[in-house]
Amino acid sequence: MKFFAVLALCIVGAIADPLSADEANLVKSSWDHVKHNEADILYAVFKAYPDIQAKFPQFAGKDLESVKDTAAFATHATRIVSFFSEVIALSGEAANLSAVYNLVSKLGADHKARGVTAAQFGEFRTALVAYLQAHVSWGDNVAAAWNHALDNTYAVVLKALA
Ligand code: HEM
Repeated sequence: MKFFAVLALCIVGAIADPLSADEANLVKSSWDHVKHNEADILYAVFKAYPDIQAKFPQFAGKDLESVKDTAAFATHATRIVSFFSEVIALSGEAANLSAVYNLVSKLGADHKARGVTAAQFGEFRTALVAYLQAHVSWGDNVAAAWNHALDNTYAVVLKALA
């Protein structure tokens, strides 16, 4: 029986150290303050890391200031930010763990197909955390909860990218 349980974990993949309900609540309540700043978040990421902007066919080689208010920019920003909203909404519940794993694993595989590197995902994380620090009430407990959430997400993304 134990063998089949381990096998099942290997097949569907797993998040080794899921967020506690308290950590998930801290991530959710801080995310609620910024989740509608979609274009602002993508702008901050592109501004800090132009190599990320250069991967987007619609924005590569264009002046960030001239694209940031366009409908195309808003559409892309909403796609990316909504992904976080979806995963964060599912977090903190054991019953949702395999759904989260599958979503994030697919994200990694889709980005691998686009030639996005682990280093670029690292840059994205740095820019996102800097944005959060500047826009939400950021104490040690919030920082630790986000760090745990992003460690979990990135372990799955990096496995899919490898
Ligand atoms: C955790 C970080 C990230 C998240 C949550 C995320 C999320 C998404 C989502 C939801 C999409 C649209 C669905 C799809 O086509 O797969 C997308 C598309 C895309 N992402 Fe990401 N992404 C992340 C990091 C990155 C990074 C670091 C890069 C580049 C260096 C990147 C480049 C792209 C590109 C080029 C597209 C396609 C855009 C197009 O359709 O023209 N993403 N991303």
